[in-house]
Amino acid sequence: MANRRTVIAGNWKMNFTPAQATAFIEEIKPMVAGKDNCDIIFCAPYVTIDAAQKAAAGSNIKIGAENVHFAKSGAYTGEVSAEMLRAIGVEYVIIGHSERRQYFGETDATVNARTKAALEAGMKVILCLGEVKEERLSGITREVVSMQTKLDLAGVSAEQMANVIIAYEPVWAIGTGLTATPEQADETCGQIREVLAEIYGAEVAEATTIQYGGSMNDKNAAELLAKQHVDGGLIGGASLVAAKFTAIVDAAQ
Ligand code: 13P
Repeated sequence: MANRRTVIAGNWKMNFTPAQATAFIEEIKPMVAGKDNCDIIFCAPYVTIDAAQKAAAGSNIKIGAENVHFAKSGAYTGEVSAEMLRAIGVEYVIIGHSERRQYFGETDATVNARTKAALEAGMKVILCLGEVKEERLSGITREVVSMQTKLDLAGVSAEQMANVIIAYEPVWAIGTGLTATPEQADETCGQIREVLAEIYGAEVAEATTIQYGGSMNDKNAAELLAKQHVDGGLIGGASLVAAKFTAIVDAAQ
């Protein structure tokens, strides 16, 4: 077993008002208290971060953001900079989620720029990548995740990789109830690790946490997390239900 930190992260997406976030964190806080074999993070909508942080204060729950812009400041209406997130104590940020790529025009180039900006600001990045259904059916998953890994991490140093978590999220498994089999998840996470070894060497590749995301839930988490290359989960739907998310944390213990 490699000595990698297990990270169980929730991606709330566009869910939870500040009051709902407070109630959720208050509910789950005692349920996950003392469970420290994994890092527990919830990534929240910008306007909900403050309430979630206040509710999580003093607990083992960290609150992150769901995106960050690549510029330090300027005329980018609707965007939020890494400096702004750091100023309110946010350490973790999701970048490159497939919903950003699908609906908001994110490309590997913008994902790369956002990643570098976040790392330069001292943040920890959860970098999402993964193939769409047609790519898996065409047998080019390996090529797709390899290309995304290389493009998204271009210019990121081996040293900075200590602050990068990769989330392998097959797009066909997100929000669909379809989950990659543990074997598929392990195989593709392993392929991503091989690409990391190519770029950064074996030591960095072995140390990098690679999560699986895509309909991970209380029922399938244990099998997925048992796999050699699956070092955690990035969880959408099940991160909105305290009992389900806690069961995933338990599966990681
Ligand atoms: P679901 O768990 O709802 O499939 O979402 C996964 C995801 O996109 C996490 O970022």
